[in-house]
Amino acid sequence: MSQDAWAALADPFVEGAYDAVKGRVRTFVLHTHLLRHLPGPPAAVLDVGGGAAHQSLPLARIGYDVTVLDSSPAMLAKAKQRLDAEPEDVRRRVRLVEATGEQAEEATGGQPFAAVLCHGVLMYVARPEPLLAAVCRCATPGGVVSLMTLNARTLAVRPALERRWADALAAFDATDEVGMLGTDTRGDTVEDLSDLLRRHQVTPQAWYGGVAVHRLDDPAPGRPRPGRDRRRRAPGEPARPLPAAQPSLPPRRTQIQGSRNLSATRTP
Ligand SMILES: C[S@@+](CC[C@H](N)C(=O)[O-])C[C@H]1O[C@@H](n2cnc3c(N)ncnc32)[C@H](O)[C@@H]1O
Repeated sequence: MSQDAWAALADPFVEGAYDAVKGRVRTFVLHTHLLRHLPGPPAAVLDVGGGAAHQSLPLARIGYDVTVLDSSPAMLAKAKQRLDAEPEDVRRRVRLVEATGEQAEEATGGQPFAAVLCHGVLMYVARPEPLLAAVCRCATPGGVVSLMTLNARTLAVRPALERRWADALAAFDATDEVGMLGTDTRGDTVEDLSDLLRRHQVTPQAWYGGVAVHRLDDPAPGRPRPGRDRRRRAPGEPARPLPAAQPSLPPRRTQIQGSRNLSATRTP
C-alpha cells in the first residue's frame, strides 16, 4: 500500500465529491459560517488537513493569508494545481506545507494563527485528541478554531435513505461508517468535541449542523433527480403540484466554532 493514504482518493475527492452539487454547497455553507467568526483579512489562517485547498482558496481570494497544511503529497499536488490557476496576488497569499496535523505547530515554526480550520479531517483519524490539541495550540489567544466533521448521531441517515433498514438500525449504535470515498470514517458528537476543545483552552461559541442537502445530487433509487426530468408545460396544461415536502433530516456534518481563551497557557 502507498505511503500516502490519500493518493488513491485525491481524484475521486477533487473531481468527484467537490465537483458535484454537494461539494459546491458544502464549500459555500462552510465559508459563509466561517466569515461570521473570522477577523477581517489579511489575518493569518491555518487550514489543517486542507487537502486541495477548497476551503482556503476562497479565503485567499478575499485577502486572507492562508497556510494549507496536509500530510498527503497527492492532495497538496491538487492544491498546487488549483493554486496555479489563480491570479498572482492570490498565489502569493497561500503557502502549502506537507506535515501531519499533529505536528502542525512545529511544521509552521510556532507561528500563531488568527484562525485554524480543521474541516473534514477528524473523521479520518483514530483518536481526535492529538490532532485537536495541535489545532488548538496553533490558534493565537483570542483566535478562532473551526472544526467540521461527521456527526456521530446521524449515522443511520444514509442507510435509511438508501432503504438499507438493517444497516440503519445497526447504525444507531455505531460510531463509524464507510464514507463516501469508500474508507472508514469515525463520527464525533458535538458534546465530546466541545469537551475536548475546552480541555485545550478553546471555548465553543457556535455550532452549525452542516449540509442536509447530501441527497440533492444522489437521490434514492427510483426518484427523479431534482431539476431534471422537467419538461416545458404545454399551453393550457395545468401546473403540476409541488412535490411533497421531504422530512427534515438531521445534519450529517457538524461544524463547531470556538475561540481560544485569551488567558490560555500553551500546553506541551
Ligand atoms: C476529506 S479531505 C478534506 C480536505 C479539506 N479540509 C476540505 O474540507 O476540502 C481530508 C484531508 O485530510 C488530510 N489528512 C488526514 N489525516 C491527516 C492528518 N493526520 N494530518 C494532516 N492531514 C490529514 C488528508 O490528506 C486529506 O487531504
